[in-house]
Amino acid sequence: MLQTQGIQHRYGSEVTLEYPDFTLEAGGQLVVTGPSGSGKTTLLHFVAGLLRPSAGTIKLDSLEITALGESQRDSYRSKNIGYVFQDFHLMEGYSALENVLLGLGLASRQNKMRALEVLSLVGLGKRTGHTPRQLSTGERQRVALARAVAHRPKILLADEPTAHLDRRRATEALELPKTTASSIGASLMVVTHDERVMDVFARRLEVGSSGLEALARAEVLA
Ligand SMILES: Nc1ncnc2c1ncn2[C@@H]1O[C@H](COP(=O)(O)OP(=O)(O)O)[C@@H](O)[C@H]1O
Ligand SMILES: [Mg+2]
Repeated sequence: MLQTQGIQHRYGSEVTLEYPDFTLEAGGQLVVTGPSGSGKTTLLHFVAGLLRPSAGTIKLDSLEITALGESQRDSYRSKNIGYVFQDFHLMEGYSALENVLLGLGLASRQNKMRALEVLSLVGLGKRTGHTPRQLSTGERQRVALARAVAHRPKILLADEPTAHLDRRRATEALELPKTTASSIGASLMVVTHDERVMDVFARRLEVGSSGLEALARAEVLA
């Protein structure tokens, strides 16, 4: 279970972000909503161990992520976290299969089988040789999703999955991380400012910005 307590963050002297405490149980799903600039991406960075909050604690089971040094956070992340970045972060010159393989590290036979398996899982079984340029936005996103889950993370994080998509594709872009996370037994945390997204999740954490300081105000609507 993921558990946070009293998280705050300062970017310089102007921005102070405060977050409500929340938990995410193993296999659970949560959407974090709030306007642009309210600190949603920053929150994902904390959970991923990419950034340490100025104050507060984050624990995954008994491991206190916020107490780890940078290299320990790196190994925590590579073991436990799958991250679908808002802009996907795919390698342009490489095929879908190679992009997933690069995420797994070694181009072993076993990893190749796993990469093909997760690409099929997201519906790209027939597009594994295509490069990002040869794929639609929705398909690129699915490559990013396949890469994020290939190593069987405990927590899948997705930043604004509907940002680049029209209404019809947006629904699809939400269902897929949900079903994919469920099928590998991972927890899912999606952040969005998209009103359309909210109904798709049973649990919602609202992060609101109040005034010029972008002070995050929030409540859990469980
Ligand atoms: N690296 C940074 N340096 C300074 N300020 C930042 C940095 N990253 C984000 N911020 C500020 O922190 C606030 C929250 O940003 P972010 O987490 O990206 O919000 P959201 O994802 O909800 O749009 C914003 O006011 C943003 O300008
Ligand atoms: Mg953001």
